[in-house]
Amino acid sequence: MAASPYDLANESGYRAWRDAKLAAYPHSVDELIVPLADPRHLTPSEIGALEACCARANMAIYSAPHLPAADKSIPKQLAQQLGLVHLEGNYLADEDGLSSITPATDEGGSVRGDFIPYTHKPINWHTDGYYNTLDRRILGMTLHCAQDAEAGGENALLDHEIAYIQLRDANPDFIAALMQPDAMTIPARMDEDNVARPEQSGPVFAVDPEQGFLYMRYTARTRSIVWKADAVTQAAVKALADVLAGSEYILSARLAPGMGLICNNVLHTRSGFSDSPEHRRLLYRGRYYDRLRFDLNHPTARAA
Ligand SMILES: [Fe+2]
Repeated sequence: MAASPYDLANESGYRAWRDAKLAAYPHSVDELIVPLADPRHLTPSEIGALEACCARANMAIYSAPHLPAADKSIPKQLAQQLGLVHLEGNYLADEDGLSSITPATDEGGSVRGDFIPYTHKPINWHTDGYYNTLDRRILGMTLHCAQDAEAGGENALLDHEIAYIQLRDANPDFIAALMQPDAMTIPARMDEDNVARPEQSGPVFAVDPEQGFLYMRYTARTRSIVWKADAVTQAAVKALADVLAGSEYILSARLAPGMGLICNNVLHTRSGFSDSPEHRRLLYRGRYYDRLRFDLNHPTARAA
């Protein structure tokens, strides 16, 4: 196996990988939009187009505005064809395991309304499931737009590999600090889905020991999170926040009905938004323990 570009001792391998990654990275989210005739039944060329986007940016945005946008089978079956099958269930998810992200009717009173996703409020940079243990990593994530807001509700998106590159270029010690198993600790608490969770410590960046991909768990939240107190970790966290505040590689997407994001749990935000009775924002979110794969519909894969 080739030496990993994520090995801090492998400077030449890192340089080659980095330069290729930055050269291929899209300048606009428009480069990642793939029209699909029917997301429930992908063609080989559509799979190829989605794969090409994900190779560049760990994400793709599909578009199928001609189909009924509120049909949950669209994101569910699309995900299945791309290897996303192990859904994280949580008690606020719908029966099919997807979560309907929409403002609670009474933001002060309901259980959902206690948690930011179910409000009109902005959500700062994070990867999904950052509080999960490493054996329950959220590797894949989908967001399908059934209805967009009257105004606002955009998602900023950044491939976590780009965040890694910008931090490593600033100072490789920042990467080492954020790969420490106790870099980030979520105290025992109730999570956003109101499930009691024990304290979780873990790295921000981790490399999968078998497949070699980079995984990131992160939240820009400052409440209910404890960063390792040593100076280099503190400096690394500050540098990462600076990257997320102004990276030239940040993409911005506004999902319209029938559009959706598929990704390897990249960094993302949501801007605040306003609704109207005709434009009550509704997104179906899927969190998966799987990473995207694109070889499932190939004849060779079927035969294997
Ligand atoms: Fe999220």
